[in-house]
Amino acid sequence: MIFCILLFVFMGSVAADNSSLSYEQEPERSHRLIINQHEPFNAETGVDDLSKTFLTPSEIFYVRNHGPVPALQEPEHFNSTYMLQVNGIVESPFNISLGALQRFPEKVSMNATLMCAGNRRTEMSKIKTVKGVPWGPGAIGNAEWTGVPLWTLLSIAKADLDNPNLHVEFSGGDVFEGTTHYAQSIPMYKAGDRKGDVLVAWAMNGQPLTLDHGYPLRVVVPGFIGARSVKWLNRITVLDHESQNRYQQKDYKLFLPSVTWENVDPLWNITPALTQLSVQSAITEPADNSTIMHGSPYTIKGYAQSNGARITRVDVSLNNGITWQAADIVYQEKKGYDNRYWSWTIWALPVAEFPSPCVIVCRAWDTSANTQPEAAAHIWNLRGVMNNAWHRVHVHDDKHA
Ligand code: MTE
Repeated sequence: MIFCILLFVFMGSVAADNSSLSYEQEPERSHRLIINQHEPFNAETGVDDLSKTFLTPSEIFYVRNHGPVPALQEPEHFNSTYMLQVNGIVESPFNISLGALQRFPEKVSMNATLMCAGNRRTEMSKIKTVKGVPWGPGAIGNAEWTGVPLWTLLSIAKADLDNPNLHVEFSGGDVFEGTTHYAQSIPMYKAGDRKGDVLVAWAMNGQPLTLDHGYPLRVVVPGFIGARSVKWLNRITVLDHESQNRYQQKDYKLFLPSVTWENVDPLWNITPALTQLSVQSAITEPADNSTIMHGSPYTIKGYAQSNGARITRVDVSLNNGITWQAADIVYQEKKGYDNRYWSWTIWALPVAEFPSPCVIVCRAWDTSANTQPEAAAHIWNLRGVMNNAWHRVHVHDDKHA
């Protein structure tokens, strides 16, 4: 089998040529996306759209870009010139074209949720200003991804998949802020693990990746913060240390609430890079500050996820956390093991007589009884990452609207 695969592999040293588009040339986007930043383009899915489908349509899937979308040639041309490099601490480095990659017999499709570490940041900024794109609860989505498992590529390159000291770096084709490009690394324990399900993907929901989501190739690291799922992938490098890229070293780290921009500098080096997501849930219907007539029937909906762990219960309170009831699990999909629930769980709670005005709260639990903290104030951090506090939605009565 490996022999057959190697027939598709082009040995050589041709690098992908991805210069960047200017912002003016960027692709057309759905008007249903909520734009949080124009340049670079950052937009989230509206909460009402989030709970409509188990798989989020690609055109309304949140977009998180640190710079301009890289330049793209015509797809046919691109398919023949695009080369992915696999190199670093490996015995057999290689380059491979997109077409050759797509002919791999190991091709798989899997559903997985991506969530930005900054999801729900705006709730933190209400406590104290944080630096970052102002995300509501829509920097999350669930899609079907098609590609080749990362461990397959690492095996062909003869990387040491069992070496716990190795890291695998993914480099993106986006170049910005002068000379910086975007790169991220994950530890080998995840990259080289068959059950880690890290995918080098070219399709999303059965279609080639869109420009915003990484065409022609991206990484999908299920269960990890979205930052590690590098888009416009052109190089995979095995290292004996973490990526030194600025976005690995000086971003996506979690600090104490007392840490400020004045005293954070010495802490970047000694603070670990975020890897797995924590348990999270949010209410998608109703939206915050909605009006629902007192006493009318209404079904509350939302999502939950816990970095691959199974969500065992979602609690909902209609009185700001005084009493709770368990929501119905509407959709939950697993991939054969208890720690591979890569897709979010969709939940709902039908309420016969809505008690508006009220504050609805939700919190999720996973198989290890991990749950969410009560208030964002306790986990506030200067970058506003990993906000998984109980999600609160204020509902007004039509008489008081
Ligand atoms: N990859 C590249 N090359 N450049 C980026 O700016 N953003 C990352 C990640 N991969 C990014 C990237 C972040 S922070 C997130 S949350 C996810 O992509 C978002 O993926 P999406 O835009 O497809 O939803």
